[in-house]
Amino acid sequence: MEKSIQLVKENLKNSYAKYSNFQVSAVLELKNGELIKGVNVENASYGLSNCAERSALFAAYSNGYRKQDLLRIFVYTNHDYFVSPCGACRQVIRELMEDDAEVILVNNLNETKTIKNIDLLPFGFTEGDL
Ligand code: THU
Repeated sequence: MEKSIQLVKENLKNSYAKYSNFQVSAVLELKNGELIKGVNVENASYGLSNCAERSALFAAYSNGYRKQDLLRIFVYTNHDYFVSPCGACRQVIRELMEDDAEVILVNNLNETKTIKNIDLLPFGFTEGDL
């Protein structure tokens, strides 16, 4: 937990948030102990921006990991309040992580708030609906 929190804070410097100036960092903790980083990556065509949570998840999947390999995800912004994943990220987290995987929000007061994946998007649209 402490190692992941340290890394998610340190990784904020990699955020590419030149339009919103709202930097977000994420760290995905794997069951094998590996840590995978992500940041928000913005674009002059604003709608093409990608959130930190999805960057980390897509990096993990790109390296061959799947939901059963993923333990929890940490999300950090340099604010004294908690920033919660956007709707698009909730949809992606819902599918790419296990239902009981933890989403751990971290603020700059070193406080954490833990939410279960399933509780972030209740009654969500999933592969089972297809
Ligand atoms: N953002 C994230 O990366 N994660 C969140 O949970 C909320 C929002 C990003 C998207 C955009 O680059 C910036 O924060 C402002 O919306």
